[in-house]
Amino acid sequence: MRIGLLNGGGDCPGLNAVTHGVVGAANTLGWEVVGFRDGFEGLLPPGNFKVLSPAKTAGILKLGGTILGTTNRGHFSSKEGAGNVRRIPDDVMLAVRESLEKLKVEALICVGGDGTLTTALQFHEEGLPITGVPKTIDNDLSATAMTFGFDSATQVVVEALDRLQTTATSHKRLMVLEVMGRHAGWIALFGGVGGGASVVLIPEIPFRYEKVAQAIESREKAGFRSSLIVVAEGAVPLGGEPVVRARKDGGEYQLGGIGEQVTQMVGQLTGKETRCTTLGYLQRGGSPTCMDRVLGARFGVKAVKLIEEKRFGRMVSYQRYHVGSVPIADAVRKLNLVDADGEIVEAARAIGISFGD
Ligand code: F6P
Repeated sequence: MRIGLLNGGGDCPGLNAVTHGVVGAANTLGWEVVGFRDGFEGLLPPGNFKVLSPAKTAGILKLGGTILGTTNRGHFSSKEGAGNVRRIPDDVMLAVRESLEKLKVEALICVGGDGTLTTALQFHEEGLPITGVPKTIDNDLSATAMTFGFDSATQVVVEALDRLQTTATSHKRLMVLEVMGRHAGWIALFGGVGGGASVVLIPEIPFRYEKVAQAIESREKAGFRSSLIVVAEGAVPLGGEPVVRARKDGGEYQLGGIGEQVTQMVGQLTGKETRCTTLGYLQRGGSPTCMDRVLGARFGVKAVKLIEEKRFGRMVSYQRYHVGSVPIADAVRKLNLVDADGEIVEAARAIGISFGD
């Protein structure tokens, strides 16, 4: 048996741990794994791939990025404009089918976020034997309680806040940290709670600048020398729009800049010296944490198990400390958002964190 593996969308710490899990589990079954390069693009004839054996992939578990390469562009992008689904053209689908047949690949594991899984679902609907593995540092995919990559990203946020706190306290400054999170504020929320932020601004809870300023002023009155504000790139002031840094091909857009706006506005309102740091791609690069290595490897093993059981069209899912599976259709096009009235937000408020609302 020969199976294929590919990574789609943005890279994420733990992708190589998934590869490690897939290669190990397949090898135990006596199967061969073919890794396609640069996402779905590697499937196009004549096929851009490499054969992955345990010996050839030794040491990848701890590496950030992906040894296979990935892309969120090209022939297979399944999103158009504001999240509309684009059907993969028939000729492209035919080329993939021929490629898999020619390479004798009997099943394909697609590791990715909403876009990659939307394409994978189309493959499944066309009768191709597919299993999916969820990936996103933003933790915004439905039907899985967590994805690998999120823990590593929040670890970077926490480290950044620890550093910002010492310089902020020395200078009695207000520090703003912009983090990733287009639609969901998980990175900001976990990073903010874990890193001791006083204000956390997330897309799910529109904020008011005046409320943020009040929170900072009341901290100052209480004797705090400094305050940390964490703002997700997709956070919006009440009635406002997300701050777009650049438009991408196909109507997609790159977010960024809300951190600077918060810095300016809250600095003005409080009269405090305020500085902004944008963490950007530091959150995506680098080695995965132990949690993400283990989760990634378990996801890879489960994806192989699904193929062994011929349960195609399913995505690996993490629920209640157990790695199981769900139909891919349950995971796509529904976001896992922070519950504004949920226990985590409530706990954050209880320890004095303001959401600017
Ligand atoms: O989905 C993960 C993510 O890191 C988002 O938070 C961010 O907006 C996006 O990827 C940036 O992706 P890129 O610039 O690589 O297209």
